[in-house]
Amino acid sequence: MGGSGQSAVIYAKKIIVTKFGPPEVMQLVEESSLPEPKSGEVRVKVSKTSANFTDIMIRKGKYPDVKDKPPFSLGYDMIGVVDKPGKDVEEFHMGDKVADMTVIGAYSEYICLPAKKLTQLPDKIDDSEAVTLILSYMTAYQMLHRIAKITEGKSILIHGAGGAVGIAILQLGKLLNLKVYGTASKSKHDLVKKHGGIPIDYRNEDFEKRIQELTDGGVTSVHKGFTPSGFY
Ligand SMILES: NC(=O)c1ccc[n+]([C@@H]2O[C@H](COP(=O)([O-])OP(=O)(O)OC[C@H]3O[C@@H](n4cnc5c(N)ncnc54)[C@H](OP(=O)(O)O)[C@@H]3O)[C@@H](O)[C@H]2O)c1
Repeated sequence: MGGSGQSAVIYAKKIIVTKFGPPEVMQLVEESSLPEPKSGEVRVKVSKTSANFTDIMIRKGKYPDVKDKPPFSLGYDMIGVVDKPGKDVEEFHMGDKVADMTVIGAYSEYICLPAKKLTQLPDKIDDSEAVTLILSYMTAYQMLHRIAKITEGKSILIHGAGGAVGIAILQLGKLLNLKVYGTASKSKHDLVKKHGGIPIDYRNEDFEKRIQELTDGGVTSVHKGFTPSGFY
C-alpha cells in the first residue's frame, strides 16, 4: 500500500487459553499471517461467536470431548463469511455466509474449516440471532425430538430452565404445546414464566415432591439444562 511496493501485513487476532483455568488464562494474540485453507477446507472470517457454559467447561479442562491441550483457541460455534475457498471446494464462494459448530477455535478472526461441515445461511439472517441457534437450540432440539421423541401436549421437567438451553427448550416446547415445569433459582422465575414455564424453586423446596404435587404422577420426560461443573 502507499506505493512503497511492499504489501501490508495483515494481523489476525485470536483468543487462546494458555492453560486450563479461570478467565485470566485467556490471552489475545496477533499473528502476522492468515491461516491457509488446505484442500477441501474454507477460510472463514468469523463475525460472531458466543460464550457458552460449555466454553467455560472447556476453558477449565472439564469437557471430556475436547482432548486438545492448551494453547488453543476456544469457541464452540460461529457465524462468518467465506474469505478463501481452498482447492477442490466448489460449493462455497467468497462472501458466502456460513455457520459451524467448531467446538474449539472460533475465538479467532480467521479459521479454516472443512467445507463439508459448513452450513450456508441466507445473507439476510442476523448474525447475532443465528449464532444463538447453533449450540443451545440444537441441544434443546436434540433432547426434545431425537432423545425424548416428545409429542404434542405432553409434560416435561427442565433442570436449569433459566439458562440458555433451558430457555431454548421452553421456546421449542411452546411450539409443541407442552406443559413445561422448570427448576430455577428464584431470580429466574419471571423469565421462566415469560416463556410459558412453571418454575420450581429447587434451592428452597424439594423439587421431586413439588413435581408430584403439581402433576398426576410425574412428567413425561426430564431434560437437563444444567450439569454441575466437574460432573459433566
Ligand atoms: N451436550 C451438549 O451438546 C450440550 C450443549 C450445550 C450445553 N450443554 C450443557 O448444558 C448445560 C447448560 O448450558 P447452558 O448454556 O444453558 O448454561 P447457562 O446458560 O449458564 O445455564 C445454566 C443454568 O444452570 C444453573 N446452575 C446451577 N448451578 C450452577 C452452577 N454451579 N454454575 C452455573 N449454573 C448453575 C443456573 O440456573 P439457576 O441459577 O436457576 O440454578 C443456570 O441458569 C451445561 O452443563 C452445558 O455444558 C451441553
